[in-house]
Amino acid sequence: MIIFPYLLKNISRFYFRRHFKLNTESQCSCFRAQKKDYLLYIHIPFCQELCPYCTFFRVPYEKNLVVAYYQALKKELFWLKSQGFCFSALYVGGGTPTVDMGELISLLQYLRELWPIREISLETHPNHLEKEKIEVLVKHGLKRLSVGVQSFDDQLLKAMNRYEKYGSSLEIQERIKNIAHLVPTLNIDLIFGLENQTLAMIHHDLETFKNLGANQISYYPLMGERHSSKALSLVKEKKFYQAIYNCMKQDFPARSPWCFSKNKDLLDEYIIDHEEYVGAGAGALSYLNGSLFAQSFSVNGYIKKMNQSLFLSRMKKPFTRADQIRYRFFSQLFGRSIEWKAMKKQYGPLVFFVLCKELLFFRCLLYFKKKKGFFVLKPEGFFSLMLIMKEFFHGVNIFRKMAIASCSPSCDRGKNAC
Ligand SMILES: C[S@@+](CC[C@H](N)C(=O)[O-])C[C@H]1O[C@@H](n2cnc3c(N)ncnc32)[C@H](O)[C@@H]1O
Ligand code: SF4
Repeated sequence: MIIFPYLLKNISRFYFRRHFKLNTESQCSCFRAQKKDYLLYIHIPFCQELCPYCTFFRVPYEKNLVVAYYQALKKELFWLKSQGFCFSALYVGGGTPTVDMGELISLLQYLRELWPIREISLETHPNHLEKEKIEVLVKHGLKRLSVGVQSFDDQLLKAMNRYEKYGSSLEIQERIKNIAHLVPTLNIDLIFGLENQTLAMIHHDLETFKNLGANQISYYPLMGERHSSKALSLVKEKKFYQAIYNCMKQDFPARSPWCFSKNKDLLDEYIIDHEEYVGAGAGALSYLNGSLFAQSFSVNGYIKKMNQSLFLSRMKKPFTRADQIRYRFFSQLFGRSIEWKAMKKQYGPLVFFVLCKELLFFRCLLYFKKKKGFFVLKPEGFFSLMLIMKEFFHGVNIFRKMAIASCSPSCDRGKNAC
């Protein structure tokens, strides 16, 4: 029976690779605001230490570079304001956004002067879980804090080079417990599929999580090409995933294939709830007016560009109408329900033509049930969806790599970037 997930994985890989191809950087005149609220994504690429498994765009912390970067960010944000963009939700990702709290707080203050931002989601790591720091962030509008833990097993933390830097499992647990009551949504990031990880370790992670007072968990499958030679077999991956799903489903319903949460909103994958979003900062992606855009994947290149007021200069992947339909279908599918009636109304008969294969697949396998104009994914389809979503992010990683490769030779890529 494992032949089916195997085929699904490879077909999805082929499918998403085809769709993530970038044009080179140019002046993008279609980077324009409509009269509506968008989600703003800000990328802070700095980390004190770089973890070996990480697939995100990140560079080592350097105070001077950080100061110049935040100045450049403020210029880009001011420009977005001048172009009429309006934001009520903010996601700050990294890297490690809390790596320089002074700069972060100053940025949040600046943002609140520009827009009435109501909800802020922020990524951090266990060393920055100090009560005073979190209280200040909450005062500035923090609604969701996501802490990268990766595993509660000391041996795995050591293998990931995280034990020395971020403390033992018990130390991390204590820090989480101390701040859990301060934030409305506290998310813990864990990874499954790590080398030498066993089912018993996964159960231990889940039981530990339940005693911390956090209300959301993002249990990611290990992603990235550099791990493919040590990849988990699909049989084991399915076993691990089902253990996670079964253990969480009662108290923490699945909001996406890998996010289990007591709250319905504020998830890791903001593309689920925000069809269009604008990214600011080096390496930030935007989806706007039917095109995908990428800011420069070089910290120095980005700072230089902002200082020269080259705000429209981005890499771009224009989506055809069919691509837009597929993008909408998959981003909604990751949240497990498709607004089918609304899509039919917006795109007309084209929607059947474009999505016939996808619909046939999900309907033939009886993974979809129809509910008030929505297609809702049944739990039997979650593992398949997890494989598809993993391939989607694999496609995003390839997109990132191509973007990094297209930076000028003087940029700060190479060993520092992912
Ligand atoms: C951008 S990181 C920020 C977290 C924070 N800097 C830290 O290290 O704790 C967000 C999360 O992505 C996940 N992640 C990073 N690389 C991954 C990979 N190769 N596969 C799966 N998840 C990964 C980790 O769980 C991590 O906590
Ligand atoms: S996991 Fe977090 S700390 Fe480690 S390199 Fe990635 S972003 Fe930086």
